Amino acid sequence: MGDSLNDQALDVLLRKARTHNSWLNKPVSDDTLRQLYELMKWGPTSFNCCPARLVFLRTPEAKQRLLPALSPTNVQKTMTASVTAIVAYDMKFYEKLPTLFPHNPKAREWFSNSPELAETTAFRNGTLQGAYFILAARSVGLDCGPMSGFDNAKVDKDFFPAPVSKSESAEVMPEGPIKSNFLCNLGYGDPAKLFPRSPRLSFEEACKLL
Ligand SMILES: Cc1cc2nc3c(=O)[nH]c(=O)nc-3n(C[C@H](O)[C@H](O)[C@H](O)COP(=O)(O)O)c2cc1C
Repeated sequence: MGDSLNDQALDVLLRKARTHNSWLNKPVSDDTLRQLYELMKWGPTSFNCCPARLVFLRTPEAKQRLLPALSPTNVQKTMTASVTAIVAYDMKFYEKLPTLFPHNPKAREWFSNSPELAETTAFRNGTLQGAYFILAARSVGLDCGPMSGFDNAKVDKDFFPAPVSKSESAEVMPEGPIKSNFLCNLGYGDPAKLFPRSPRLSFEEACKLL
């Protein structure tokens, strides 16, 4: 370890990677989406809890389901992107801890007994995984357009409905355990349509050395 990336890789991942709103008419293969996931899954999460869940909307029909939840300014870019990912998190991630964190069998209970801790952990780590997702997408040659301008409740109702109770099949819990975090358009961006990049804070503005 201790290796560092070359300039080209740093440009692709961060320095020259832009948020895209206009897309070339070029499809993204399912294989590329698999490569993306196979990279992002290695990013660290607390207790190795891996709460992120992804839904890739690849067809016009799937995109149509998203349409009613989108802010008006996000409609055009989302409808023209090859793929739109719903980056979500599972508040019941702890059910998988016996597999994901096998060296401590008690880990599941810490979360199943505390919904608040489970929610904070799911959101924090699901968001981290969202950032790994963006970097992994760029690593496999895709451009990204992340978006929080949408109605989370509408997305959750359609894409992550409450499971039907097994005991009384007519009874439906008010909400399911999977929650949308943000959306991310994926594809090959049109560099001609980019507007000038906004600045970032300097080291002095954002950081302290103690
Ligand atoms: C979590 C998140 C949510 C965002 N939501 C929106 C959005 O709803 N609509 C939009 O047009 N851009 C959205 N953006 C894009 C940001 O404005 C953009 O990434 C930022 O200005 C940096 O641009 P750059 O990557 O080209 O430097 C979002 C970005 C992130 C990371």
